[in-house]
Amino acid sequence: MATALITGASSGIGMALARVHAEHGGDLVLVARRRERLEALKAELEAAHDVRVWVIVADLAQDGAPRKVYDLVRELGLDVDILINNAGFGLHGLFHTQDPEHLSQMVHVNVLATTMLTRLFVPHLIARGRGHIMNVASVAAFMPGPWQAVYYATKAYVLSFSEALADELRTTGVTVTALCPGATETEFKERARIGRVRGFEMGAMSAREVAEYGYRAMLAGKRVVVPGWRNRLLTFLPRILPRSWTVVMSRIGMEPL
Ligand SMILES: NC(=O)c1ccc[n+]([C@@H]2O[C@H](COP(=O)([O-])OP(=O)(O)OC[C@H]3O[C@@H](n4cnc5c(N)ncnc54)[C@H](OP(=O)(O)O)[C@@H]3O)[C@@H](O)[C@H]2O)c1
Repeated sequence: MATALITGASSGIGMALARVHAEHGGDLVLVARRRERLEALKAELEAAHDVRVWVIVADLAQDGAPRKVYDLVRELGLDVDILINNAGFGLHGLFHTQDPEHLSQMVHVNVLATTMLTRLFVPHLIARGRGHIMNVASVAAFMPGPWQAVYYATKAYVLSFSEALADELRTTGVTVTALCPGATETEFKERARIGRVRGFEMGAMSAREVAEYGYRAMLAGKRVVVPGWRNRLLTFLPRILPRSWTVVMSRIGMEPL
């Protein structure tokens, strides 16, 4: 069965994806900073399923971290069949008030780590003529986002990058899926210091629902998937509304109540 490398597997959607993959009988490489969380998940999955799990502790905000993860995977002698770039975080607030270092880390994790891990692993997938890449974007990818300007822009990058790569790889047997969740019950909201905003007050999906939906879509080779009808409506509106209205809609969803 396929081996999947999942970044951000220590909580939320990444942890749920790891459980879904293990239920399918697949081995796993779990990547994040919190070792104890990853070790606990490894113990849980190896006890419950006939799978092997490896833990790699890495801070993907650091320059060179994707290369270190890649080198460790090679040293372990593992072939990664499924690469899931899920690690990411947001930061709520007006751009001119936000901590520059925090913003820089966000771009590193959400954009650079996703890009470089994909660049490092994809030649192996192409050489074998099969495999899947899933990049976790967001409904935020479809619109500019006042109060989370940088976060929304990072997700627009992830979506654009994924769609272009999916096209480049169309004859290789390797598929690329951009999973675009809306509000989801994870540690994301608290870590992004979002507080009370309409975008989350209207209800959130569970990480498990999002993971199952994304995993199925990835295996089916779908390119862009949005879990939940409300999120699909949210990503449809920017296609028909003028861009200036979309920005206002987006602001109404994210400004503090
Ligand atoms: N929840 C939502 O409403 C929502 C909506 C749309 C898209 N998303 C996207 O879904 C993805 C998963 O987020 P989530 O909702 O599951 O949030 P979460 O519960 O906060 O999980 C984020 C994961 O990313 C990892 N991570 C963060 N910074 C990292 C770093 N510097 N190095 C390595 N790993 C790092 C965290 O692990 P450590 O802290 O242990 O390193 C954690 O495992 C993100 O890309 C997020 O943007 C979330």
